[in-house]
Amino acid sequence: MSVKKIGIGIVGLGTVGSGLIEIIQKNNNIYKNKYKTDFSINGISAKNRNKKRNVSIKGYKWFDDPVKMTELPNIDIIVELIGGSDGLALKLAKESLKRRKYFVTANKALIAKHGIKIFELSQKYNAKFSFEAAVGGGIPIIRLINNSIIVGKIKNIYGILNGTCNYILTKMRENNLQFNKALKEAQNLGFAEANPKDDINGTDTAYKLAILSNLAFGINTKVSDIYTEGISKIEEIDIKMAQKLGYKIILLGISNLKNNKVMQRVHPSLVSNNSMISKVDNELNTIIIDDEVADKIMVVGKGAGKRPTAASIMADILNIHDENKKKFFVTKNKKVSSLSSKDISKREGRFYIRMGVDDKPGVLADITLFFKKHKISIKSMFQLDNKIKNIVPLVFVTHKITEHKISLVLKKMKALKKIKTKIVLLRIEEL
Ligand SMILES: NC(=O)c1ccc[n+]([C@@H]2O[C@H](COP(=O)([O-])OP(=O)(O)OC[C@H]3O[C@@H](n4cnc5c(N)ncnc54)[C@H](OP(=O)(O)O)[C@@H]3O)[C@@H](O)[C@H]2O)c1
Repeated sequence: MSVKKIGIGIVGLGTVGSGLIEIIQKNNNIYKNKYKTDFSINGISAKNRNKKRNVSIKGYKWFDDPVKMTELPNIDIIVELIGGSDGLALKLAKESLKRRKYFVTANKALIAKHGIKIFELSQKYNAKFSFEAAVGGGIPIIRLINNSIIVGKIKNIYGILNGTCNYILTKMRENNLQFNKALKEAQNLGFAEANPKDDINGTDTAYKLAILSNLAFGINTKVSDIYTEGISKIEEIDIKMAQKLGYKIILLGISNLKNNKVMQRVHPSLVSNNSMISKVDNELNTIIIDDEVADKIMVVGKGAGKRPTAASIMADILNIHDENKKKFFVTKNKKVSSLSSKDISKREGRFYIRMGVDDKPGVLADITLFFKKHKISIKSMFQLDNKIKNIVPLVFVTHKITEHKISLVLKKMKALKKIKTKIVLLRIEEL
């Protein structure tokens, strides 16, 4: 059997781009034998030609303008690894598909914002496009959803979608670290970027959740439809209290389908130590698909990093002959739509509430009475020993209540003179 030649153009030679080059350099002979295909890098591009790279790029043809690569007959696949939701990344997607090149990307921002438009272009031009690495790094979640391995109707899809946040929260819990110290450690170990803003404010998780929701429910959601809260306000005291109560604090992305409406939210959550999801520590990611027929399917793996992410890209490249690649997003469901981020007020669940009060007799009774008067049913209550400047921390765990109700009551509560600190509100998720 003859060996087919497939030419690749790689745009972006950073963490993932250099990882991909390494994989191709190391494994091309294996691919030749196994897939009867010779994958050769016929073009590379990045911002700065003279930058020192941690992989050898000697012998590869350099393009100052990567869009030129889409015009070449010896390039069949364009791999976009630069990032950004618009600009060059979007242009590359459009020009690649127009010229019937297979467009492969790891860019969650691009796919969350323009995924459906790019899919429609791929349909129009009968070209392929893949984005496995955009969600969950090395976890093959897109393939899992898309290859119809899920035979029923997905009711919920949720998980830990950001390794940086999971690492920080794990270290805060295990080593009693403050948020800033845990972040620094994550940066030193390469789990967090120099500018970790999108990770810690929840945006990165929201991008990935938007992609998962679109695929799982056939909707066309906007990232702004997702209620998003990050982890920077999580304090050591809450991590410790959660532990005492039998919970871990985890940043979750959650998408629920109910009455043909999809509610999406990203926020730190208290999750029981007994749940499977709470076992996923450090930089690991997990995604749980809750399907009507198969029940819960959980996948775990490295959500980022040079090798796992480049491996996902390579898997997309190796799947070049897979006809399923043309079917992404086709399950558009006209009946189902996404709620807006404000609709989180309809969520019903339990809450963890912490506040600092004057260390005076009767204050605790007053706060308890306040909750009772406003029909907030309290499941448990704790007064902590670590008093600071005569302020005692109190922690309450509520029974189930709507977000709307709790936010109204907390607004009133903030006006109470006895409460001396901000009121911390965290959601408890029963998963
Ligand atoms: N890193 C991960 O673990 C991971 C995981 C999943 C998904 N992703 C996604 O993969 C993509 C790449 O991430 P990365 O971590 O590899 O990023 P990175 O290390 O910052 O590398 C980005 C690359 O893009 C190049 N670049 C930036 N702007 C450019 C422009 N205008 N024209 C040409 N080249 C340009 C840079 O060139 P210079 O090198 O010359 O500066 C660099 O080589 C992003 O979409 C990211 O979200 C990354």
